[in-house]
Amino acid sequence: MKTGTFNGKDFLWGSATAAHQVEGNTINDWTEWEKANAHRLASRRFGIPEHAVGQAQDAGNYQSGNGAQHYDYYKQDLDLAKQLGHNAYRFSIEWSRVEPAAGHFDTEQIAHYREKLQYMRQIGLEPVVTLWHFTSPLWFVARGGWLNKQNVSLFVDYVCRMEHELGDLVKYWITINEPRVYSTMAYLHAEWPPASHSLISTWRTLHNLLLAHKISYKVLKAANSNYLVSFSHNAPYNVVHKHNIFNKLVVWVLNHFLVYYELDRVKNHLDYIGLNFYFTNVVTGLKFNKSLSTDLLSDLGWRVAPQNIGPMLELVYARYKKPIIITENGIADAKDSLRSWFITQTLESCSKAMQNGVNLIGYLHWSLIDNFEWAYGFWPRFGLIEVDYQTLQRKPRPSALTYKSLIEQYSQASTSTTS
Ligand code: BGC
Repeated sequence: MKTGTFNGKDFLWGSATAAHQVEGNTINDWTEWEKANAHRLASRRFGIPEHAVGQAQDAGNYQSGNGAQHYDYYKQDLDLAKQLGHNAYRFSIEWSRVEPAAGHFDTEQIAHYREKLQYMRQIGLEPVVTLWHFTSPLWFVARGGWLNKQNVSLFVDYVCRMEHELGDLVKYWITINEPRVYSTMAYLHAEWPPASHSLISTWRTLHNLLLAHKISYKVLKAANSNYLVSFSHNAPYNVVHKHNIFNKLVVWVLNHFLVYYELDRVKNHLDYIGLNFYFTNVVTGLKFNKSLSTDLLSDLGWRVAPQNIGPMLELVYARYKKPIIITENGIADAKDSLRSWFITQTLESCSKAMQNGVNLIGYLHWSLIDNFEWAYGFWPRFGLIEVDYQTLQRKPRPSALTYKSLIEQYSQASTSTTS
């Protein structure tokens, strides 16, 4: 029996996706970049697990193409989410679909997202709607994309239109996904389009995204003060390897840059904090991410440390005192050998944080279905539901059933303690 910390019926239990990663057939800056870079990416030879080597050497792996076709299969996917015990679903609207040319909105595409939202309401899934998840229309990029401050207003026009068209079906909005991850991957590490190495561009992009969040927050709240609006923030848990003053100082600096910097800038424009939690940095001297012999690794080689989500929640809650939704948390695990354990440990750690006073109001696992993992392509498998990309068949993994049973146990425990 689980202890009753999760807030009864109101807790958001669910999963998340992003349009470009699951819908298939998008036309945006990423699709162009994928065409130009697929062969280069397929020739990379490092960090690929044994089972994925063949797929990772195929250029097709790096082109989102038809993908999982969630655009057409969304009812089936949402039905499965519901059967797996979820009561919420985070997804993104693909800006390039609804506004294919500047100022020209496509009514059929808007109707598609309206129908999807209506369907979610009908079957009892609370929508959490992301307005921008890393992909932009080609016309926006041609004008300089997020590097150009004047373009922020173009995004806000789109936000206003979505609010006007879909707002009656939405309560939870996420304006922007992971401003720091996007700006550094695209403008510093050159791993994502437009793939440059410029500190100044990184800085500008980050600040334009934060500005876009703030203005969007204001326009959404002005339209309806009952909306709950946030952005999704990717923050690592930074921990010292050995206790000494220098290591502690490094952790302090990392926390200020990676955990607090963005939140501090927009803290007056957040109704809750959307937290995407994937990483733990173990700090020793100037080595920020020491590998330990005890580390468990995901298929992507990322350290798996689910026990740190609770301390992370406590750190963030102590500073901002705002409700938190985990808007992403998951593991690339094609064989599904760690995911059940991972989810169990994660929820236990969240539960402890709640006992210590954290106001956690939702947990959305990444991801509902297997998806296109950006520059890694299709081989990393994050889904609770496995997708066969040939037949498009969906098959819940055993861990999806573990998650379902944990949702039931935690929900029962919390209703029995609150009643
Ligand atoms: C992103 C997702 C991505 C996930 C796993 C997050 O940073 O928002 O789009 O698939 O991490 O890498």
